[in-house]
Amino acid sequence: MKKLNSSELRNAYLSFFKDRGHSIIPSASLIPENDPTVLFTTAGMHPLVPYLLGAKHPQGTRLTDVQICVRTGDIEEVGDASHCTFFEMLGNWSLGDYFKQEMIRWSYELLTKELGIPVEKLAVSVFEGDLDCPRDDESASIWNECGIPRDKIFFLPKKNNWWGPAGVTGPCGPDTEMFIDTGKEKCCDECSPACSCGKYLEIWNDVFMQYFKDAEGNYIPLEKKNVDTGMGLERTICILNGFNSVYETDLFSFAIEKLEELSGKKYKQDEETTIAMRIISDHIRTATFMIGDVNGISPSNVDQGYVLRRLIRRAVRYARKLELGDGAICEIAKLFIGKYKDVYQSIGDNSERILSELVLEEERFSKTLESGLKEFEKVITHIPTKTVPGKTAFRLYDTFGFPVEITAELAKENGFDVDMEGYHKAFAEHQEKSKAGAEQKFKGGLADSTEATAELHTATHLLNQALREVLNDSTIMQKGSNITAERLRFDFNFERPLTATEIAAVENRVNEEIAKNIDIVCEEMTVDEAKEKGAIGVFASKYGEKVKVYSIGFSKEICGGPHAHNTGELGKFKIAKEQSSSAGIRRIKAVLEK
Ligand code: ALA
Repeated sequence: MKKLNSSELRNAYLSFFKDRGHSIIPSASLIPENDPTVLFTTAGMHPLVPYLLGAKHPQGTRLTDVQICVRTGDIEEVGDASHCTFFEMLGNWSLGDYFKQEMIRWSYELLTKELGIPVEKLAVSVFEGDLDCPRDDESASIWNECGIPRDKIFFLPKKNNWWGPAGVTGPCGPDTEMFIDTGKEKCCDECSPACSCGKYLEIWNDVFMQYFKDAEGNYIPLEKKNVDTGMGLERTICILNGFNSVYETDLFSFAIEKLEELSGKKYKQDEETTIAMRIISDHIRTATFMIGDVNGISPSNVDQGYVLRRLIRRAVRYARKLELGDGAICEIAKLFIGKYKDVYQSIGDNSERILSELVLEEERFSKTLESGLKEFEKVITHIPTKTVPGKTAFRLYDTFGFPVEITAELAKENGFDVDMEGYHKAFAEHQEKSKAGAEQKFKGGLADSTEATAELHTATHLLNQALREVLNDSTIMQKGSNITAERLRFDFNFERPLTATEIAAVENRVNEEIAKNIDIVCEEMTVDEAKEKGAIGVFASKYGEKVKVYSIGFSKEICGGPHAHNTGELGKFKIAKEQSSSAGIRRIKAVLEK
């Protein structure tokens, strides 16, 4: 077998298919753009769904790429030799072009010639057939003609030899999968690639996408037959090099070495250390890609942001187990940025954002991690059963920032489990209550309305006006705003990044207004009156006849509130970050330092 490293395998794969008429296309974003049924891109075919369903692709009918993917179904499995939450998938597609004959012969050629895998080490599986789709004798015969003996060709059911759809509905079909036979003894008479005994390791999957699965579960034949293939980069280089785990490959070994250096512990010294180092490396690599993506995300309590938060917090918890101090996860992220920035440009472009988000999230969690752990200890010594009550799990989440999955993991380590149903109930009850509270207190105002958010909201108005002044551009408008207890985020239309001088000038201008200790004035008037008085406000159509106009020093804006009472309450205004949000839109994150 050829001992290829990651970049050699990427190149070998792409040039093999380029030589066979394929266009090389770039990896799409990790965040699916038009598919609300999944949080992340989980396979190379995902961004290509419209084309698999018949739309014309501008690059033709033969495509190949390396797609970045995230699968978070088994975060808890990470720590073993092969599970990764992030991975790169090498793939190629026929959009109604070639089919089984070409694809299987190319697969055989690439595996045996380009990767140098001896034919004796290969095994394959094909679809055994059912009511939806017939037995795939054709694929079996092609493999056999290539040189795979009949006893290495396994017929397996839908559970094993069918792929897709990626979400609830979409293209799918029977597949043929390729495995390395490790030479281990068969685990039983029926031992096949379907067992998890470790004799067979999957390296590639050719899917013959001929069906569309609809919402009722029907398989409807597609007009054109497609091919969709996927080969996991990490796993394949691990196998080619004869390593025991993906963490020994060139994609991880440097991170493990750094963790050894920072902790003074050895990777393989004991199981606990090995697992902790693997989890930190995997999770921080994934977090690096999620934050650094072209549609980069930030940790939050919902959807993708929550998955990111879970990964970072879990990594921080394991870093503490290795007795690593603050900032260690950033050191690891820096290495991943260095490793990938030339392959995925957005990772280099967003390197600062990646590091600052990690610092911020680690800080947030560090504040409560220790007290949360103490609380957890207290709970489990006092509860009479072996189940952590849902309300307790919710308190650990709400007060100490423990994602419930971390509580569940902690519980398991101590021989307990968590009443998840009770947790979800407590969560829903809390949401109801805070929603009702917010609605009552500030009709049409901020959803989360504490003193801190009201002050940041006031700062947002000052920032808006300061930008218009400093950049001398009265077309600047608010294009989005998001305020948490920690910071404000403000999006506005502007074509280029701000210079350091401009940022400093904006900060100064806001701080000048704060220093004047001006009372904030709120008046009700009609939209026309507000406009006459020079008030700005982008969401005018949302309001009724009369609107509230807030005058805050040099700023006058239509707004529902709530706000601080006096600018003097705000403290020192500081811009933490200025970056692009989307085309023509800039994003500023700022804080109030007290
Ligand atoms: N879409 C197929 C997979 O992910 C190739 O295995």
